[in-house]
Amino acid sequence: MKKKPNFEILFNKAQIQKRINQIGCSISKNFTTEIPILVCVLNGSFIFFADLIRSLSIDCEIDFLKVSSYRGKKTTGKIILEKDISFNISGRHIIIVEDIIDSGKTINFLLKKFKEKNCRSISVVAMLKKSNKFNFQLINEYIGFEIKQEFVVGFGLDYNQRFRNLKEIYILK
Ligand code: IMP
Ligand code: MG
Repeated sequence: MKKKPNFEILFNKAQIQKRINQIGCSISKNFTTEIPILVCVLNGSFIFFADLIRSLSIDCEIDFLKVSSYRGKKTTGKIILEKDISFNISGRHIIIVEDIIDSGKTINFLLKKFKEKNCRSISVVAMLKKSNKFNFQLINEYIGFEIKQEFVVGFGLDYNQRFRNLKEIYILK
């Protein structure tokens, strides 16, 4: 029999929606003249992404990419690009939308990749960011919530592909 996981609620639906609307508002204010491309980092960002783009009051385009590095609660440290974007992004404003930034390795990998493509600007949105040790500065950054070093699931975030469909964000004990 599977052991039942132990969850502790961290953010409820209302808190998440309120924060998404605030971020949507800031992004809308910063891109009034040119249409940005929002890039959803699959799999974890898909629910946050869907709500975020609907909170924008500006015109936008969207694209998707997929990276993987985690097994269970640990990063393997090796980032694999499983699916690339399909648009030509040269000269465009790019907004990378991540579920969570932990060690910063994934976002660093993506920033490096996008910097080679002559984008007009690169911004990063992350629903969550774990307060820790990372050694580089993000520019044009929108963060939903800063959290402690704990493993979280729900609202798109998984543990071994499970729990993405939970409507709230939970700490997995
Ligand atoms: P990083 O490369 O260590 O910053 O990790 C980034 C990726 O690892 C995120 O995009 C998530 O997919 C995954 N990840 C990191 N921490 C968690 C967590 O607490 N729950 C679920 N996924 C996580
Ligand atoms: Mg992710």
